[in-house]
Order: sequence, then C-alpha cells, then structure tokens
Amino acid sequence: MMIRKEPLLILAVSLLIPAFLQANPDPETEALYQQHCASCHGSDRLGGMGPALLPDNLSRLKKPQAVDAIGDGRPATQMPAFAGILEPESITALADYIYRPPASTPTWGQAEILDSHLLPHPHGTLPDEPVYQADMMNLFLVVEIGDHHVTLLDGDEMEPIHRFASRYALHGGPKYSPDGRYVYFGSRDGWITKYDLYNLKVVAEVRAGINMRNIAVSADGNYVMAANYLPHTLVMFDATNLELMDIIPVENDAGDSSRVSAVYAAPPRDSFIAALKDIPEAWEITVEDGEPGIRRMQTDTWLDDFFFDPGYDHLIGAARDGKHGLVINLDTGKTVADLPLPGMPHLGSGITWEHQGRRVMATPHFRTGAVSIIDMDNWEVIKTLETEGPGFFMRSHENSRYAWVDVFFGPNRDKVHVIDKQTLEIVKTLQPAPGKVAAHVEFDRYGEKLLLSVWDKDGAVIVYDADTLEKEKRIPMNKPSGKYNVWNKINYEEGTSH
Ligand code: HEC
Repeated sequence: MMIRKEPLLILAVSLLIPAFLQANPDPETEALYQQHCASCHGSDRLGGMGPALLPDNLSRLKKPQAVDAIGDGRPATQMPAFAGILEPESITALADYIYRPPASTPTWGQAEILDSHLLPHPHGTLPDEPVYQADMMNLFLVVEIGDHHVTLLDGDEMEPIHRFASRYALHGGPKYSPDGRYVYFGSRDGWITKYDLYNLKVVAEVRAGINMRNIAVSADGNYVMAANYLPHTLVMFDATNLELMDIIPVENDAGDSSRVSAVYAAPPRDSFIAALKDIPEAWEITVEDGEPGIRRMQTDTWLDDFFFDPGYDHLIGAARDGKHGLVINLDTGKTVADLPLPGMPHLGSGITWEHQGRRVMATPHFRTGAVSIIDMDNWEVIKTLETEGPGFFMRSHENSRYAWVDVFFGPNRDKVHVIDKQTLEIVKTLQPAPGKVAAHVEFDRYGEKLLLSVWDKDGAVIVYDADTLEKEKRIPMNKPSGKYNVWNKINYEEGTSH
C-alpha cells in the first residue's frame, strides 16, 4: 500500500493555524481591502457595484494596469483614485492581493442564482410594436467595451438609434431570439441580460456564475445556456423571464471537474454543444420536457474553441497544444481528421463559403500571420495565406466576393486584409486609422455594406461599401469590440460566427 504523506502533513498544519491566516498570508492588505474596496467589489471579491476582482476575472488586465486603475481610478466611473489615500506600497500590495485565489472557493449555486434574479418587465407586459421606425431585420448592435455600453444601429441608414449601459465587461457575442425581437447579453462576471429591442428596455437579468465565458440560445428560442469558468457549471434558464431551470455540474466519471470554455447552439440537432477546458470531452446537451440530457464525447486531447460545418455534422476543435485541429463526427463522437494548424487557430471566428463547387472553411491564427483555408469534404488544407500578423476575426457574407481578416496582434494591428473568395488571394490591405487597432468586420443583411471597428477609446465603426471597398462613413464609438447584425445572426449566415 502506498502511503501519501503530504495531505496528512497539510491537514496537521492546517489544524494549528486559524482559518483566516491560511490562504491569506497578508492580513494587513486584507484589512485594507475590506476598508477601502469591499463596499463596491464585495467582501468576498465577487463583485457588487464594481466588477469581481478574482484572478480569472482579471486575466485580461495586466498587473501594472491594475496598479494604475487603483492609483488613478477610472475617470467617468465610480472607481475612485487611491493615490492620495494609500501609500504606493499598499496599492501594489492590493494589486497583488486581487490576483491571489481567495481563501475558500466561492460558491455560486441555486440560492445565489435565485437571489440575483431581476425582472423589471416580465414577458407580456410591454407592447408588441417597435417604438421606432427601422428595418428590424437589418439592425446592428455594437458592443462598446470602452465604457460598457451598447449602441443600436439602423443598418439601412447606418445611424445610431439608441445607446444604453450594459453590465460590466460583456463577453462572448450577444445572442438574438429566433424572431429577432430580444437579445441576450452575457458578461464576464456572470450576468445575463435579456433586452427587448422593440421597447428598448431590459426585460430580465440573472447572475449565472462568478466568471462566465458565454451564453447560447436554443434554436427554438426556449432556453438560455450559460458556460462558466467559475464555478464549474453549465446553467440553464427558461428564456422567457430567465428563470433558473437547471445547474449542471461539469465533471467526468472520475469526479474531476472542468471549466467550460464555451457553449454553442446547434440548430439542426436541436441541441447545445459545450467545449470543456480541463477534461478531454465535448458535451452535447439536448433538452427534453425541460430536462437537460447530456451526451459526453471523449476526445483524444483537450479541445478549445469550436467551429461547426453548416449541417452541424462535425465539430472542428483547436487542440490545446496550438498545433492542430481535430474534426469530430458529432453522431459517432469519433475523430475523423487531424488538421495541421500550427499557429493556434481561432476557430471560433472561422467562416465558410463555396469555392469551385466545394465548401471551404477559413480560420485566422492567434500565433502566426496566416489564414488556413480547408476543404470541408476531405479536410485538407488547400491554402495557407500569409498575412502581416496574427489575426483574431474573419468575416464575410454569402453575397460578397470578399472575406475580411484583421491583423489583431503585432506591429501591423492597424491593418486589415481583404481576400478574394475565388482566387484565394489577398487583393487589398487597408489601414483605416493608422496607429489604431482595426478589427472585427460585420456585414449588413444584404452583404452590401460592412462595419469595421477602430478598437480604441477614441474609436469608431467605419462603414465600407462591400464591393468597391470605399469608405462611406465614420461613426464615433468607445472601443467597439463587436457588431452583430440581426438578420445574419438569426439566419446563421455563412460569413459570420454564431
Ligand atoms: C465606489 C466604488 C468603488 C470602490 C470603493 C473601489 N472600486 Fe474599483 N472599481 C469600481 C468600478 C465601478 C470599476 C469599473 C470601472 C470601469 O468601468 O472601468 C472598478 C474597477 C476596478 C479595477 C479594474 C478592474 C478591471 O477588470 O478592469 C480594479 C483593479 C479595481 N477597481 C480595484 C479596486 C481596489 C483595489 C479598490 C480598493 C482600494 C477599489 N477598486 C475600490 C468601483 C469601486
């Protein structure tokens, strides 16, 4: 029999040290936090009026930026500047403190979710006619992460209709109801907001978790599924008023739990598909009589970031080593192809089109300046296009001859490439605002015009003619991260992600 000493030792030591000192080697900083920060960020750092301050939630903020945020505050927000109140050492200590895991793993279960539920306008209490004139199918939502707002744009006139505050740090694309009347937003801190685009009002809100990746809405519009990093759960809601239906713990047979990287709706299958971060499985969730049934597919390796073929017969997942993509048949659960994609593909932004009578897909890469174009019949890479740096988003539209890919990382991040979908060549490289990141394109419902983001506090969306590639208009925006056209999203247009 093998004797494992360490756990016993830890147990013995932990019995001798009072609980609050164990995971908290720095009671002074803890006290400073409770005195100056807890009122807004929560005594447990789970957030409140201000965002959650936990390591996972802060993964996009570098520590020196956190030091600046604490010292200088955030202008035009409630976040005060502490430079005159606290010593520089205390500010650094507080920055260290918020990147440390909390003493005990915070819980977010049934009681917390039910408690968080807000229902300002229950379903059926608002009028069924839009309060403004526009083609409701050609609306765009623009998420402005610079100051946590959303702008509603008229896609015919390319004019803003309304601008409203969102929850802190929206994450993952907003999802429309199948009729396009409602939109569901997910925030990094776990909030789901259901918004009525006819009445320009929030219908319902609920907090599904502490650190959430994204949400998906079922093809029939009946359910909303949330994918959490913390806790390790998938959470299902009735889409009508965001009432909690089920909390699904995410773990394998051995009891190892996993973060959920993302959840997707798979309309032809009437199911959801979930990508798991820490166990080599992909899950398919089918709801019957309000009960989620889970089918677990074991995969050869950990897969992140999925893409699906148009019929949802296959999923293409990026292997965690960043060197290849695996194609999995969703009916058999078997791996049918292994694609050499050596630069960490961003499959979540992949798109497909018809090329010489065959369907191809294309994906940018996070680590190399390349776009891979893959034949979806035989899963062979038919072309690797060299770009001026790693990219993040790729977009097109069925009616457009061009696909657009940004150069999101590196010195050329102010450029975007335009690819001819038939010759598979880059035909133009644009630099919309020199020195400022150019990213994320979305087409209007007709594929005639497109919007490109200048990803800057003093940024904009720029309207281009999709055919002549001429600039038509500049609409100022505060770090417009993503744009979402109602028609393209609810019809699962081939040139945009879902
Ligand atoms: C009066 C409320 C309030 C207090 C007190 C407060 N904060 Fe904040 N804090 C906020 C708000 C609101 C934001 C979000 C600001 C924004 O929109 O960018 C924020 C943002 C932050 C951020 C940036 C988080 C991110 O994800 O970008 C950090 C770090 C932070 N606060 C740390 C602290 C610390 C440490 C303290 C205590 C010394 C503190 N805050 C006290 C309200 C507060």
